[in-house]
Amino acid sequence: MKLLLIGSGGREHALAWALAKSPRLDALFIAPGNPGTAQIGENVALDVTDHAAVTRFCQSHGIDLVVIGPEAPLVDGLADSLRQAGCAVFGPSRIAAQLEGSKAFTKALCDEAAVPTAAYGRFTDPAEAMAYVRARGAPIVIKADGLAAGKGVVVAQSVAEAEEAITMMASGGLGEAGAQIVVEECLFGEEVSFFVLSDGETALPFASAQDHKAVGDGDTGPNTGGMGAYSPATVLTPALTRQVMDEIILPSIRTMKARGTPFQGVLFAGLMLTASGPKLIEYNVRFGDPECEVMMPRLKSDLLAVLEAAATQNLHSINLEWHDTTALTVVYAAKGYPATPEKGSEIRNLDQAGQQPDSLIFHAGTAQTSDGRIVANGGRVLAVTGFGTTVTEAKARATAALDVIDWPGGFHRTDIGWREIKREQDR
Ligand code: AMP
Ligand code: GLY
Repeated sequence: MKLLLIGSGGREHALAWALAKSPRLDALFIAPGNPGTAQIGENVALDVTDHAAVTRFCQSHGIDLVVIGPEAPLVDGLADSLRQAGCAVFGPSRIAAQLEGSKAFTKALCDEAAVPTAAYGRFTDPAEAMAYVRARGAPIVIKADGLAAGKGVVVAQSVAEAEEAITMMASGGLGEAGAQIVVEECLFGEEVSFFVLSDGETALPFASAQDHKAVGDGDTGPNTGGMGAYSPATVLTPALTRQVMDEIILPSIRTMKARGTPFQGVLFAGLMLTASGPKLIEYNVRFGDPECEVMMPRLKSDLLAVLEAAATQNLHSINLEWHDTTALTVVYAAKGYPATPEKGSEIRNLDQAGQQPDSLIFHAGTAQTSDGRIVANGGRVLAVTGFGTTVTEAKARATAALDVIDWPGGFHRTDIGWREIKREQDR
């Protein structure tokens, strides 16, 4: 089969790495890709906002399946354009992608499907949002309705902080994304990422992971796209997983189908494990990044066959198999991330680091210079992944690889996996 993978992050390098293991893969193109994916397939400089150009590429290259990695092209309807042209696609339609593209859309779905989630109000008038905040008190969560590259959520510890967030969003601080504001009850508990594949009808639990969103050790500092993750997340026990499937995932998938807008792709549920059971924080409509970098290496099944089954309404025929191992990834970010990451600093010793046992290095925001050097070209630059029988062991492997990399322009958290490592020590 010939595949086109859309995206350029660590997630896409991990997807490319897993797809390349398939005996059925004949050709893999990545648009636009990164220096890591270039080692696996052929990067192509397609403008993915130009749907006609992507469609033409698929037709002229005989692409059998398109896998869309990031949310932006999904919310933009790239899957619809490709399907209309007769291409098989892994990824939801524009309307189904509203599960990530609009917080108000997801909240309305939760109401309709009786999915447990934080109590909320939605507002276009900032004065009404403020009145709701004052009536509820703090802590309280303020969310811009639309996509805001991770900046659209403020967990306000005081009413004043909540009002400041509402003013910022209502005055266009996040552009169109803030035109509608969702104000939510603050949930307490441990957070976990849970991934489910769907072909619109069947929902197949994929894997769990735990991310670390804050930039600094001890979960301090501003939120990021994710500074590290491990998988599986054992806090999501088999019993809790069943409860999440029954109370959250299956009602959502059924409701999307009943509305005539079935969800096909990977549904990423951000969950809070509260004292009164698991609650949905949010949906995303893609694999998580860096969660993907710890899930793909654990997958024993042929990813190509799995994604193809999801794209062609055959998921019922799939039985997922996993390696009996734990994976942990540490994101190596450019200094200044998340506010103003510095570009251009050189990263050395990547080849040596990649030879460390039980580890893999995924590229995210890197670029290759004309003379072959690798330099930083984004915020999150590398995802350094280790494997072991425990999170403690996996972290030691990731750290050993990290220590070989020579990159004065980068920084990383040193405490990824701390919750689980503490539990392992207490056991
Ligand atoms: P997001 O950028 O949408 O992934 O959300 C960022 C983070 O905000 C989540 O990972 C949670 O840690 C936090 N968050 C979002 N909603 C709530 C909520 N209702 N209660 C507590 N924390 C929340
Ligand atoms: N790591 C969280 C996300 O991909 O949104």
